[in-house]
Amino acid sequence: MKLPPFRLERYFAQHEFSAPFLLCTSDCESMELQDLLTLSPGAQERFLSLRLGYTESSGDPALRQSAAALYENITADHVLVHAGAEEAIFNFMNVALDSGDHVIVHGPCYQSLAEVARGIGAGVSEWPGDPACNWELDLGVLHTLLTPRTKVVVVNFPHNPTGFLPGPEFLHALSALSEQHGFIIFSDEVYRGLELDPSDRLPAAADINDRAVSLGVMSKTFGLAGLRIGWVATRNTRIYNEMSAFKDYTTICSSAPSEFLATIALQNAGKIAQRNIRIIHNNLDHLDRFFTDHADLFQWCRPKAGSVAFPVLRKGTVDDFCTDLVEKAGILLLPGTLYNDGSNAFRVGFGRKNVPEVLEKFDAYLKKHTP
Ligand SMILES: Cc1ncc(COP(=O)(O)O)c(C=O)c1O
Repeated sequence: MKLPPFRLERYFAQHEFSAPFLLCTSDCESMELQDLLTLSPGAQERFLSLRLGYTESSGDPALRQSAAALYENITADHVLVHAGAEEAIFNFMNVALDSGDHVIVHGPCYQSLAEVARGIGAGVSEWPGDPACNWELDLGVLHTLLTPRTKVVVVNFPHNPTGFLPGPEFLHALSALSEQHGFIIFSDEVYRGLELDPSDRLPAAADINDRAVSLGVMSKTFGLAGLRIGWVATRNTRIYNEMSAFKDYTTICSSAPSEFLATIALQNAGKIAQRNIRIIHNNLDHLDRFFTDHADLFQWCRPKAGSVAFPVLRKGTVDDFCTDLVEKAGILLLPGTLYNDGSNAFRVGFGRKNVPEVLEKFDAYLKKHTP
């Protein structure tokens, strides 16, 4: 399979470790190894005596158990561990789709959610959020996109890049449609758990629909992207078994140290997520003030969940604006064109602690460089 460059990841490869002020990252504040190990008594000693052989291909049982605890109707046997969410997306698309199948993808999207399907030879239709209406998705539009060949509908809530989060009735209606039409819901839930109001948390798709596949990862809600541990949770035995077999051609099994550390993190999932939500709360208050001060230049909508949002630039073109900002002030934003989006929006990320400091620099840049 030939895949085109992953625009967003290539952009990060160029800037992430050279631009001093990242204001578009999607992961939450990370932590030091020693801080993670102190969350579990005796973990340091156990970590040092860990054997570094192959691990179980489906994932360490303790890790799968800890991941399963994030769901209502999922047990450890329904969890299949991968090297990040990215491997899980690749493997899922490869087992669920054949050339000539049709996929509908919530847009604008994290590129691999559509691109891998395209690489397999599937037809991909975008189901776009409405920029005029907080990037809401309309089930009526989905109806018009469905064809007899539609095998998979991909959704991502809370959404990267817009921050959109629907209510539970939306997910239940989607689940009913999947029963009626026979498509599989692939639900990218990597930002789940980052709801500012816990009552806004959506059920996991795999909990309410026994053919759906929910995608989780350590990178976003838990701020542990460097572990490269993700998983799918699904009661769909056919997809689970085919993904297990496909994984023999990608990573075979995950890294033992990462599985050990991810297990400790998930056993303390609530504590880690709460710490990250506190950071996000504080950052959103700063962003509200910043965007109010610059309402002539930006259109801002505070999201209910997640660590990213997609404000619109009202003047000029977003590519030029982002280039000038990184060149003159060292501040990295992500132009929406990297998502193939034409609404002149950019991604802002607010999961990291230094956002207030970066916003001060952004404010200084705007005062100096806009008339
Ligand atoms: C919506 C979405 N899905 C999947 C991924 C991939 O996650 P990971 O890099 O942890 O594999 C990302 C990363 O940004 C994402 O935003």
